[in-house]
Amino acid sequence: MITLGIETSCDETSAAVLADGVLLSNVISTQLIHTRYGGVVPELASRAHLRLIIPVVDEALRTSGVRKGDLTGVAVTYGPGLLGSLLVGLNFGKSLAYGLGIPFVGVNHMHGHIYSNFIDEPRPEFPFLCLIVSGGHTQLLLVRKPFDHELLGETLDDAAGEAYDKVAKMLGLGFPGGPAVDIRARSGDPAFVRFPRSLAETDGYAFSFSGMKTSVLYYLRDHKLLDPATGVLGAGPAVVDNICASFQAAVVDVLVAKTFRAAAATRVRHVAVAGGVSANSELRRRMAERAEAEGLILHVPKPAYCTDNGAMIAMAGSMKLAAGLADELTLTALATGMPE
Ligand code: KG4
Ligand code: ZN
Repeated sequence: MITLGIETSCDETSAAVLADGVLLSNVISTQLIHTRYGGVVPELASRAHLRLIIPVVDEALRTSGVRKGDLTGVAVTYGPGLLGSLLVGLNFGKSLAYGLGIPFVGVNHMHGHIYSNFIDEPRPEFPFLCLIVSGGHTQLLLVRKPFDHELLGETLDDAAGEAYDKVAKMLGLGFPGGPAVDIRARSGDPAFVRFPRSLAETDGYAFSFSGMKTSVLYYLRDHKLLDPATGVLGAGPAVVDNICASFQAAVVDVLVAKTFRAAAATRVRHVAVAGGVSANSELRRRMAERAEAEGLILHVPKPAYCTDNGAMIAMAGSMKLAAGLADELTLTALATGMPE
């Protein structure tokens, strides 16, 4: 079984080849055009996918050593995401499957993130808990068996990655800001400011990151470190490092607390983390520390499989194809409203 996975839901054009559960290639082209706008511009993303899709797929095939004619299935993200971006990968993947006369399967992007934990061994054992932390989502799910997921809770406002990106923007660290905050936080003091741990102590598994982001803004404004009218930052590098570390400590405290409370309540032995923010060094460190303390087994994908990538789509897609869950070529893209 040789599956080509395609991912174009946001600003990464990516393709990967997976043969019998083994990843042979994973090519990711991150669209740099968005950096100068401080965020993803949907129209530009669709156009960049159109330009990149064929070279990226060709490169994924070339580096895998697999010929087009040897593929046995095509898996493509069909949502959630930016509609114009999704349509590029989806139409390309459907056309390729149609031309080759092989099965096609649409993959929910969030399922791709969950099953990114299956790319490398050891894989999580069912049932397991999965925390998805990305630029668009923050969700805690109980994964009972393959593609049987129960949403336990999600963010009421900003996603964790979105909050990272907005704080980075205030601090002049560019876009996407998560990786920059992660690096700057390593030299900072996490106890410099105590930002709120929103909803950390409440029952249930809802998250809220918008207040944490606003507290950073208020801190900068109240300490005359930022001019809200011009956006000009007056904070020096050491203060920026300290604010990054303090903000990150607040986010990670909440993510770790809720995840392990849910693990205890659902009595799982395996806990998985996925999505772009799972590349964060402090989140990885704190999750590992807590899992060890509680005798639970933690799974976190390699950083290249945390942010959006074709490998996770090839993995989830091949699992669906193996279970006989191929789709018709009439499948259409969904920006929102995907099944859990
Ligand atoms: O999963 P992903 O690539 O795209 C979505 O599905 O949204 O996640 C992208 C998000 C961005 O917000 C980015 O800033 C964040 O993941 N991110 C990080 C790190 N690497 C990526 N956030 C914190 N620390 C990181 N090292
Ligand atoms: Zn994603």
